[in-house]
Amino acid sequence: MLVSRKRLKITETFFQEEMTLELELKAGLKTTLLEALNANKVSINQSCGGNGTCGTCRVEIVSGINAVEQSSSYEQEQSIELQLRACQRLACQTEFSSSTEDLHIKIVNEAI
Ligand code: FES
Repeated sequence: MLVSRKRLKITETFFQEEMTLELELKAGLKTTLLEALNANKVSINQSCGGNGTCGTCRVEIVSGINAVEQSSSYEQEQSIELQLRACQRLACQTEFSSSTEDLHIKIVNEAI
């Protein structure tokens, strides 16, 4: 199976930590940002279990917007409902694209 590699840089604002993950994503399989973070044991709030309803998994895209797919209409609706800023995405709804572009995100972990 074809694999695409991506570098994911993560800035966590609460503990002020930075880390970089080397991801191997299987071609043809949709992988969300939340799934990648969970698989690599990166702590992120996810109160609704990835259903896109709580807003606790919000992240800011610092750079590499082409490394992820555009928001689905469901995510766009939820982003309005949850009052996300323009640079923020729901990790549970954000799928990696086939681009080899690296991604830098900031885990927000703010009180909702
Ligand atoms: S885990 Fe609830 S919106 Fe993503």
